[in-house]
Amino acid sequence: MRYCIVNPQSRSIVLIGMMGAGKSSVGAYLRRRMGFALLDTDAIVASKFGMPIPEIFARYGETKFRDAETEALRRMRTEEQTIIITGGGIVLRKENIEILRSQAVIVWLDGDEEILFARASRKKNRPLLQAKNPRKAFSHILGARRPLYANIADIRVDTSVLTNEEVAIAILAKLSRVNPKPESPKPTTT
Ligand code: S3P
Repeated sequence: MRYCIVNPQSRSIVLIGMMGAGKSSVGAYLRRRMGFALLDTDAIVASKFGMPIPEIFARYGETKFRDAETEALRRMRTEEQTIIITGGGIVLRKENIEILRSQAVIVWLDGDEEILFARASRKKNRPLLQAKNPRKAFSHILGARRPLYANIADIRVDTSVLTNEEVAIAILAKLSRVNPKPESPKPTTT
């Protein structure tokens, strides 16, 4: 895990992780609780195409979706402290990772595979799970991505048995530990 060199409490926070990790719900909770601005790459892409994500995949294919995702990151401005919610595949491109690293503390929402899958398949809006065997597809994607998430994350939170509120609290607690405020300077003696 990377060590954060700037005070994370004043930086933007990016939520990464697999489908079903709770990035959107936790992001919305953090926004309400902390008053941060919020950016959601999936929402930006969907609004750019004027259609929901499954339709973008069906009509234009995954590569066009990924291009739009990267474009959304390139255009992102985070002058004020922002929660950035990303799609699960944001870690697939090196450029995305570089942009995120330069703008925010990276928080990985992880969890038990069965639980993530159960959550992710609750809504039928994940094009990558529209497979013959969605469970197997999920496992394959997760296996490939876990090392990528682990490699770029500053902080990991296991969300398996936590509510959104508990995840948010865990994030805030870990943020303050990643880079504690410097101690006050010791008085100099002459
Ligand atoms: C994707 C995850 C989705 C969305 C798209 C691709 C992925 O977002 O970006 O369907 O590659 O894992 P969520 O992680 O919010 O489901």
